[in-house]
Amino acid sequence: MTATIGLFFGSTGGAGAAVADLIKDLIDETGLATVDVHDIAFSEMKELEQYDYLILGISTWNIGQLQDDWALKFKQLDDIDLSGKPVAIYGMGDQYGYPDSFVDAIGILSEKVIERGAEPAGFQLVDDSYQFEYSAAVIDGVFVGLALDDDNQSEMTTPRTQAWVATVLEDFKLAVPVPA
Ligand SMILES: Cc1cc2nc3c(=O)[nH]c(=O)nc-3n(C[C@H](O)[C@H](O)[C@H](O)COP(=O)(O)O)c2cc1C
Repeated sequence: MTATIGLFFGSTGGAGAAVADLIKDLIDETGLATVDVHDIAFSEMKELEQYDYLILGISTWNIGQLQDDWALKFKQLDDIDLSGKPVAIYGMGDQYGYPDSFVDAIGILSEKVIERGAEPAGFQLVDDSYQFEYSAAVIDGVFVGLALDDDNQSEMTTPRTQAWVATVLEDFKLAVPVPA
């Protein structure tokens, strides 16, 4: 039976919502898994527990803050059990406009899901294509999720997402790693 991944996103302006659909298309077409997409604005955090694999999408707003719909329900995460569940996070940000808090929400959400027992997946090296000063999403030179900047680098959104989806499927052990 094909695995089902639950994707829950919060998006104020629609950028992260579009990426949710892109991720769904990319994963569904592999035949390795199917993706159920949920807008967190119309979901309860309890629904996260129904899936064996999770992808969470969040943008950063108001200088280093969680996207509004996530912020409203963030406390509910304290009652959620994510023990042993693989969780990958993607996030939208603006590295030129907010270079000291670029995609901070990825880092905040990552810390919380790890606290709830999740197995974090889909980490990504910070390469030269990014220019920012600080991000709460970076630990030891690695983004703890997929960092996307649709405001300034929209042409990179699809290739970055394609590469990340391949990593996530490997980390979820749904795809065999391709030898380097
Ligand atoms: C008032 C305001 C504050 C923002 N703060 C941040 C920030 O601190 N860090 C960041 O990376 N992006 C920040 N952004 C940029 C948004 O995250 C970016 O536009 C993103 O694409 C929005 O995604 P969404 O449409 O899915 O919500 C901010 C944007 C606005 C308008």
